[in-house]
Amino acid sequence: MLASESLGVRSMAVEVEACGTKILIDPGAALGPKRYGLPPDEIEIARLAELRELIRKRLRTAEIVFITHYHFDHYSPDWAGDLQGKLLFIKDPVRNINRNQARRAGEFIERLIRAGVRWEVAEGRRIELLGGEIVVSGPLWHGPEARFGCVVSVAVREGGTTFLHSSDVSGPVLEEAVDFILTQRPDILFVDGPSTYLGPRFGLKALEVARANLLRILREVSPRNLILDHHLLRDLYWRRWAEPLFEAAEGRGVQVVSGAEFSGKPETLLEAERKRRKLRK
Ligand SMILES: [Fe+2]
Repeated sequence: MLASESLGVRSMAVEVEACGTKILIDPGAALGPKRYGLPPDEIEIARLAELRELIRKRLRTAEIVFITHYHFDHYSPDWAGDLQGKLLFIKDPVRNINRNQARRAGEFIERLIRAGVRWEVAEGRRIELLGGEIVVSGPLWHGPEARFGCVVSVAVREGGTTFLHSSDVSGPVLEEAVDFILTQRPDILFVDGPSTYLGPRFGLKALEVARANLLRILREVSPRNLILDHHLLRDLYWRRWAEPLFEAAEGRGVQVVSGAEFSGKPETLLEAERKRRKLRK
């Protein structure tokens, strides 16, 4: 786990090594521009710089790179040149995309062309590794609403062990994202939990559906590790919301953890704590 909300920034950047191949998923990190009406403070800005440097360093040695969609917490346009010589798979820049991301994808591709970087569309791909494989989902909606366009999920398999990265599926709240997870049967699932911090703005019903879907995954797949992070970890009280998951995990040998916990690093929800830090000053 390179960066995520539980490590203090908006991101789902992950490095996976499978079958001797270094794979990097979502090389990007950003800060919430406004939270509680407050801009990021110097603590968050410093953490962002530190983690972006780490991601960029790992990007240099990665052989295969995935960009699951065109939000700045998942890719970095200014690092286009660093992608040279790598096998690069990007979310389809033209189909199943909203206007804003299509514009960004177009600009990114111009940068890739200028840097002489080749890329391939990620959707639905199966990439063979020596003793394993990478399976990419089809287009999956970014949360409960169509207006944010689509993302792709990436499953990396080495022998009988599967790691699945499912960015920005907000729960997962929709059936297609759940289906991909149920089909791939991950041992380690890194999934974007829903935006509980938005409450009714996300949709109270959608939050219920997301939790029911996670419970279903937990019961039907029983992954060794269920890593919840990203949107859900913008909420200081996420563990309270996830209580039924912790209960269901008990006795099934499932560990429900944040990205920081999984990586053995201290959990620092810097965005969610922004107001507290401000009040302490
Ligand atoms: Fe995101």
